[in-house]
Amino acid sequence: MPVGPTRRVVPPGRPGSPGRPTGGNHAGASHEGARHAGSRCERPAATHAGAASPGGDVVKAALVALVVVSGMEAVGMMGACPKPPQPGEPLRDLTPQQLASFNAGKVIFAKDFEPDEGLGPLFNSTACGECHEEPALGGSGDEVETHAAVAGPNGSCDMLAAHGGPVFQAHTTPALKQALGLDSEPIPAEATARATRTSPDLFGFGLLDAVTDADILVRADSADRDHDGISGRVNRTPDGRIGRFGRKAFGPTLAEFNAGAFLIEMGITNPTNPHEETIGGSPIPAGVDPTPDPELSAEALQSVFDFVRFLAPPPQLPLTPEGAHGRYLFGSMGCISCHTPTLYTGPNKVRALDRKPVSAYSDLLLHDMGEARADICLGLATPSEFRTEPLMGLRFAKHFLHDGAATTIEQAIDLHAGEAQRSRDRFAKASPKEREALLAFLKSL
Ligand code: HEC
Ligand code: HEC
Repeated sequence: MPVGPTRRVVPPGRPGSPGRPTGGNHAGASHEGARHAGSRCERPAATHAGAASPGGDVVKAALVALVVVSGMEAVGMMGACPKPPQPGEPLRDLTPQQLASFNAGKVIFAKDFEPDEGLGPLFNSTACGECHEEPALGGSGDEVETHAAVAGPNGSCDMLAAHGGPVFQAHTTPALKQALGLDSEPIPAEATARATRTSPDLFGFGLLDAVTDADILVRADSADRDHDGISGRVNRTPDGRIGRFGRKAFGPTLAEFNAGAFLIEMGITNPTNPHEETIGGSPIPAGVDPTPDPELSAEALQSVFDFVRFLAPPPQLPLTPEGAHGRYLFGSMGCISCHTPTLYTGPNKVRALDRKPVSAYSDLLLHDMGEARADICLGLATPSEFRTEPLMGLRFAKHFLHDGAATTIEQAIDLHAGEAQRSRDRFAKASPKEREALLAFLKSL
């Protein structure tokens, strides 16, 4: 098909700002003021933390809930606190410049790209916002994609990079279709496993990006030295950095994951990933992708990073006494062994990300979830290991688990096995009232 001149996407509404650093974690934020003294509007971490004390009882949990609820009402009555951010809205406390970049990035995140703007030649969809859209831009989506890899002996993992893996794109541009007759990227026969991945929400992920490595490492217990049957492991990149993004926690930073998504999901090269992927290992036929690389500017990439990293986590709903009992059960059933209620960000130049609690309900570690749920290896993650899925924003989810195998929260818990078997069994044996209480708590997240 005819190909027009390169059209670089430049975020609208940003007057020629000086070149910002790109790609680096926490980059582009040199203008933040002094650390914000914790205001009384910030809810203390304790109100989010589902860590009911093991010795606590129902009455105590209910009392705590009443205190929390009435405390929040009291704050509300003072009338001075802004409404907490809703899904798709930015973190509070952004500077005007950060907010402008968030808004510019949102436009590019939502934009449908065309082949002459860099889309393809292989792609899974035309816009970030096609897959991350519910209940607002940056949320989850219906799209599922296919990954494949070869699990070798002694835990080795071939992610099929030489064949264009581990993500195998479902679509091709008309030019590639015409040249090779392909509708999707072929998956090589040597793949030992395929995986289905649903599109997750990204709310609060800038805070997860800013959580310190130390806060993740402190919970890793790969040899299960405390003999609780739970052995969280960190995934690592080939150069040794700790992974935390994607269902196998292979992505080390949000900036790299986003830049990778442009290339892998949409076939859009960018300053972090300046070369197109191969077509199943073979070079792109001449003339199929004439748009000069990189197809996305550093500025556009930075603003999409700012959009994603400044997306606020949905605020937790106030707990009813039933929900507060559920929060206690979340502790006593052992869910908190993996779904860590609160993680902390480290010192950060961005005030909104600086030393904040984040109600992640995840330790960001890998856990063996049992052979029945196993699919591909990825980095150090074995086929049956998955990152503890963060539960922030759970009430907005319509499908659960890495492949969407569960359509209800109960089903998702029932499908926990491996290291989570004991915890799952406690849920299975609980009385209907207790199960209801746990669900009431989970639906407040
Ligand atoms: C075709 C659908 C699709 C498109 C388009 C897409 N994503 Fe995603 N996204 C996914 C899927 C599926 C995953 C989960 C991948 C995994 O688990 O390994 C994901 C994961 C992510 C994550 C990590 C979330 C986590 O749980 O750790 C980030 C960040 C992200 N996407 C950002 C983006 C950005 C930015 C764009 C646009 C450049 C984009 N995505 C485009 C489907 C998509
Ligand atoms: C051994 C660690 C572990 C324990 C214990 C555990 N989980 Fe999980 N949980 C995980 C992992 C890992 C996933 C992601 C699995 C996947 O994607 O297939 C997950 C996923 C979930 C999900 C689906 C989230 C989503 O958006 O897809 C829910 C809900 C959930 N857990 C609730 C619970 C509850 C409730 C308990 C206690 C009864 C519990 N979990 C105990 C590790 C654990």
